[in-house]
Amino acid sequence: MTDSPEIRLNPAVIPLSIYLHWPWCVRKCPYCDFNSHGAPKEPGALEALEGAYVDALLTDLEAWLPDVGGRPIESIFIGGGTPSLMSGRAMKGLLDGVRARFSLAPDAEITMEANPGTLEAGKFEAFREAGVNRLSIGIQSFSDDRLKRLGRIHNVREAREAIRLARDIFENFNLDLMYALPGETMEGLKEELDEAAHSGATHLSCYQLTIEPGTAFAKHLPEELPDADQTAEMGDFVEAFLAGKGFTRYEVSGYARQGRRCRHNLNYWTFGDYLAAGAGAHGKVTTREGIRREMRFMNPRQYLHAVEEGRSAAAEIHRVDPEDLPFEFMLNALRLLEGVPECTFSERTGLPFEQIASTLRDLRARGLIADDPGRIRTTRLGLNFLSDVQEAFL
Ligand SMILES: C[S@@+](CC[C@H](N)C(=O)[O-])C[C@H]1O[C@@H](n2cnc3c(N)ncnc32)[C@H](O)[C@@H]1O
Ligand code: SF4
Repeated sequence: MTDSPEIRLNPAVIPLSIYLHWPWCVRKCPYCDFNSHGAPKEPGALEALEGAYVDALLTDLEAWLPDVGGRPIESIFIGGGTPSLMSGRAMKGLLDGVRARFSLAPDAEITMEANPGTLEAGKFEAFREAGVNRLSIGIQSFSDDRLKRLGRIHNVREAREAIRLARDIFENFNLDLMYALPGETMEGLKEELDEAAHSGATHLSCYQLTIEPGTAFAKHLPEELPDADQTAEMGDFVEAFLAGKGFTRYEVSGYARQGRRCRHNLNYWTFGDYLAAGAGAHGKVTTREGIRREMRFMNPRQYLHAVEEGRSAAAEIHRVDPEDLPFEFMLNALRLLEGVPECTFSERTGLPFEQIASTLRDLRARGLIADDPGRIRTTRLGLNFLSDVQEAFL
């Protein structure tokens, strides 16, 4: 690698999104290491909190304004936690507030995550009216036994009801599913995928259950977890089965019908910019001087107090060292099965392509990066050893 990388960034050509984090859930799931916390139990407490939290999100977002000028917002993602615990009124206040402060692209994708245990028809309509045009529902499984083992707050009947409502109100919706679950068989997986594929969803996210350090599952491993061979076999099956149903795998865990890939996530994977607000939220912005990352306070109360007292809610702000950019870029871009055009590398990092040319040549020679002129993408073998391929850029 060269010693002094040349920076020539043009932020105006880099797509821009917004991520908003809602940190509360009905209760914490035993496998989850997202920044999510059981909601306060006292009657009315969450309702009392949500107005203040929405105000804080909007104030916090303003901190990014000097860096983005009039760049249009291409997508918004309201994630969690369980943002479907919000009232329709709070969601409207939030999205109106964003529109008042930023210029939204006319066709902006606006996604909200929803837990089937928190939904009512009226609320779905209110979210839609507030501007949400894509829903992502945390179904996880169509088996009551497996939902129970996962500690979910909902059952299959409620999952199906949430899907029915989504189909009526949102034409564009995703289901989150998990596989390699305790007690799951191939036959069980096939039934679940079949139901998901015929549900009307336009997008499926299929995550392999990961035992995350620090979670309840890490302390007490669930019984009857599939072994590594069974898990790999299930992963291959998910891809082949969904392809047969018209869902193309385009990312490690992402499957979409034609034209329905998640634009917000595509922006992460193509190393675009995203402003972030909310407890524990991560943002990235490109300016002429370089790329800056920020992370907000994780603890929701600490986050709220900081914003309410007029202080910065950033727990961490750092300029990305240009030396780290090739790895950071590949951590994202190589998750996409079709990879990215070569020119994206220099456009998004400001580094000359020569900086990665020899590593790419070496990976191509080893059959890990495809021999695809003008594109950077893994081969099937490379995808199976993704972290090794990404680490070659360290
Ligand atoms: C923030 S949650 C989605 C919305 C909502 N909180 C819910 O769970 O219904 C994001 C998704 O990540 C997936 N996920 C969370 N923890 C996981 C783990 N340990 N292994 C695999 N997938 C996980 C789940 O599919 C979950 O729906
Ligand atoms: S509901 Fe979603 S975010 Fe909340 S604890 Fe469960 S998986 Fe995590």
